[in-house]
Amino acid sequence: MTQHLADRTQPTSDAPTPNPGAHAATPGVPTPPEWWRHAVIYQVYPRSFADANGDGMGDLAGIRARLPYLAGLGVDAVWLSPFYASPQADAGYDVADYRAIDPMFGDLHDADALIRDAHDLGLRIIVDLVPNHSSDQHEWFQRALRDGPGSPLRDRYHFRAGKGEYGEAPPNDWESIFGGPAWTRVADPDGTPGQWYLHLFAPEQPDFNWENPAVRDEFRSVLRFWLDMGVDGFRIDVAHGLVKAPGLPDMGHAGQLRLLGTQKLPFFDQDGVHEIYRSWREILDEYPDQRIGVAEAWTPTEDRTALYVRREELNQAFNFHYLNTPWDAAELRRVIDSSLDSMRPVGAPTTWVLSNHDVVRHRTRLGGGVERARAASLLMLALPGSAYVYQGEELGLPEVTDLPDEARQDPAFFRRGAGGDGQDGQDGLRDGCRVPMPWSRDGASFGFGGVGGWLPQPGDWGALSVEAQTDDPGSTLELYRRALAERRARSALGAGDGVEWLEAADGVLAFRRVGADGRAVLVAANTTDRAAPLPGACASARGQVLASGPYRQGEPLPADTTVWWEE
Ligand code: NOJ
Repeated sequence: MTQHLADRTQPTSDAPTPNPGAHAATPGVPTPPEWWRHAVIYQVYPRSFADANGDGMGDLAGIRARLPYLAGLGVDAVWLSPFYASPQADAGYDVADYRAIDPMFGDLHDADALIRDAHDLGLRIIVDLVPNHSSDQHEWFQRALRDGPGSPLRDRYHFRAGKGEYGEAPPNDWESIFGGPAWTRVADPDGTPGQWYLHLFAPEQPDFNWENPAVRDEFRSVLRFWLDMGVDGFRIDVAHGLVKAPGLPDMGHAGQLRLLGTQKLPFFDQDGVHEIYRSWREILDEYPDQRIGVAEAWTPTEDRTALYVRREELNQAFNFHYLNTPWDAAELRRVIDSSLDSMRPVGAPTTWVLSNHDVVRHRTRLGGGVERARAASLLMLALPGSAYVYQGEELGLPEVTDLPDEARQDPAFFRRGAGGDGQDGQDGLRDGCRVPMPWSRDGASFGFGGVGGWLPQPGDWGALSVEAQTDDPGSTLELYRRALAERRARSALGAGDGVEWLEAADGVLAFRRVGADGRAVLVAANTTDRAAPLPGACASARGQVLASGPYRQGEPLPADTTVWWEE
């Protein structure tokens, strides 16, 4: 590493005043605005964003070249899915070296240049941290295998003797999220069948033992490494999984994945994780300019999620309860209220997310085509809190549902049925939302780079490209650009922690929000497939700010349409 990189502790942005530390307010001194409370954070999936060297795989240089696009879109920050050295057994969520860039994406100099350019453009950078498990190629795991049972390196993971007369059965009944048992047996150094190790995901992703102090020290050091590189925060992968119930008790039944997010499990959301995040928050707060931690935490209830963002812990947690809500006014209202209510006591912002690299794109998932996707996006972008945008949703990209099996790389796809009934793992179809971005109308990969991407793009994606949609006032891209510009200009959109619900017909969601500047915005979303009466308050609004589809003021609200008005 060069001196230049090692010395780099300050972001180059004209970022706001230094974070005075935690939330502690000094009486009489105004608290600086906390950028992350209402930030729009854009998720880049590095494999599929832009490919500068034309090898079919996106890279850091490609992302760097497209940063002006992201600044122009109007987002506040960019979250990069993992780009670390990795054998790519789970598309980079299997990290072999937490301080190195995988050569397929570039090197540390590319990362440094990317962070600097982003800051110069006023964009913050959030990197993905994967602390629940490493790659099986990580040096520690390789040494653990070599050193054998009882060695200190084995204690950094969960190695156990198997059950049964010859240790032939897994140590407990936990199932992998990707299907099949969560345990794999290794051979002892002399070649005889030996211990088993725990992997909640693929066998190539052994879980760390967070009771081991070396693991805790290592991740504090990794945090500092990237903070010193200038990153503005971390998205923490499987934040709910680090600590396991003492003794690794059996679940007692199969079908465990189906309980994820609804029930307490011995391998997820244990109270012990919070101590870890308190120690991380101390590190984040040592750095200027409000560096943040964002939890990917699947918990049974919104109140349990709120525990991750208490004042001394992380800043945000993904709101998967919102993501999982169908396009239905009553259900949306319920989840919006409960999301806001659960975060209010801990003083954290709510987050809103419709799409990411693990779920079916919302244009397809919500079942109503691009009109419904646009309406859902405009509703999300009006809500108080921080919103996440997944690359390509601003183009209205659909899920690619017909990828050929031989093109697929999702490890869960290959483990389907490993649990016996074929239902036990994730569906394994996550590649459909990871297809490379179309940038231009023509060309072998629609401007992604080279002759083709690592996954094939549908032949008609040129029409959805950034080039095709730019300056087309009816395009989804221009809708996002306008929505994000309005969101910046009006504090009623995004800021605050509550909404005032308005009388509306069945199937219509309508609310009022007042900004810090006293200006109010009215929002109505028709979630039905028929036109619906305009809520009274909206009929007398001063002016239309934005509509997700064609709409003339005063007329009934068209099907699958969201409108913003100035009161
Ligand atoms: C959540 C990530 O979003 C997903 O892509 C990954 O497979 C698992 N965590 C395991 O790291």
